[in-house]
Amino acid sequence: MDASEIKEIRDLMDFEKARKAPPEGFPKFPDMPAGRYTSQEFYDLEKKNYWSKVWMLAGHMDEIPEIGDYKLWELSGQPVVITHGDDGKAHAFFNTCSHRGAPVVKEAYGSAPAGLACGYHGWTYNYEGDLISLRDRRDFVDLDMSCRGLFKVKVEQFGKLIFVSFDDDAVPLREYLGPVANQLEEFGFDKLRLANHYVWDLKCNWKIAMEANMEVYHVKSIHPETVDAGLDYRANVNTLYNNGHSRMVAPNLIDGDVVYRSPPRQDHIPFNESVTEIGCTCTQSYHIEPNFVSPMGPTLFPILLFWPMSLNETKYELYWVAADWGEGDMPAEFNAAMDYFNVVITEDTQFGDWIQKSVESYAFSGVPLCYQEARIYHAHESIDRTIGLNKVPEDLRVAQVLGDEWTYPNDDKERLRQHFDKAAAE
Ligand code: FES
Ligand SMILES: [Fe+2]
Repeated sequence: MDASEIKEIRDLMDFEKARKAPPEGFPKFPDMPAGRYTSQEFYDLEKKNYWSKVWMLAGHMDEIPEIGDYKLWELSGQPVVITHGDDGKAHAFFNTCSHRGAPVVKEAYGSAPAGLACGYHGWTYNYEGDLISLRDRRDFVDLDMSCRGLFKVKVEQFGKLIFVSFDDDAVPLREYLGPVANQLEEFGFDKLRLANHYVWDLKCNWKIAMEANMEVYHVKSIHPETVDAGLDYRANVNTLYNNGHSRMVAPNLIDGDVVYRSPPRQDHIPFNESVTEIGCTCTQSYHIEPNFVSPMGPTLFPILLFWPMSLNETKYELYWVAADWGEGDMPAEFNAAMDYFNVVITEDTQFGDWIQKSVESYAFSGVPLCYQEARIYHAHESIDRTIGLNKVPEDLRVAQVLGDEWTYPNDDKERLRQHFDKAAAE
């Protein structure tokens, strides 16, 4: 982030802090239908027409560090194996043998020095998914091995992060990320190490779980002892990007004062020097469609993912990534930071099953969102656009009220102009 972008964000924070209402012309959100969290029809539409088209974070190269390593990845609901290929890159395929569909791997993680061998009749594939050997080939008439590789899944890396899409026509990952891709560069994803990784179950729709991490309106109520003390939520700046992505930036506080310089560094804690002022002194968090939420920073930070298992069951996956701590164990402070964050997660997830019961109840018809919750509405608009507006039944649809007018790069300039015009007039 260069000096002019940093200044623009600081100016926007001043504006957000001082405003008495949403910016001039900001739309009133129609209530979002409760059915978006409770309707099997909507869930099936999401599965068929949304999850099948987006880019999803499927792993980190540290999970498969050596050539021939693999991981089984089924959180998307599809059986996929991801390998570390001879070219040093990640490759992905359906875990579905081209003979009669048996799995080529069965463990969550492993290494296959002799290739991926199907346990049923022994067909064997290389790390790029090509069929390289089969027993008793004489018994097959005219079998063209070159057409019998594992069915490939589109895969691209952003540094060490592995993204997968089931859509052969998906645009390249960087194009999908849009302006967010350049913003992520300074966080050094090509070097960040995997510090921890775990998954647990929640009893609510995946969007209910994710949306707890897409606004700061809840901070005062849910996090009075934790996040609230360290974050000036009323100065938060939301930016909406194409494809439903968004960013929030809120100044961090120490003893009630906004932080303008990162705290003094400690030699034993690795620090990513390419992270600029905002990333070092603010909570700079991204939502990347469909289910990626991450407050990024210069040392250690989490990436949260929310996977639908059914209409009201979600797997919450957490990747912790960190600047390289060199040989030996990671600093104790990282473990302490992860323990602290577990408290915050417990606070954030505490209402998921309650809310699910509410939205399923007779009482609930829709969700009225406010300006601070715009990133949630923006994501829902994008879900409907990706599914296809005409495919979503009218009673389950959200109106497209944000549109380009409130999407980057239009929003920031417009809000700043109004702010400074007003200040000049007073
Ligand atoms: S099903 Fe895999 S070799 Fe037969
Ligand atoms: Fe929270």
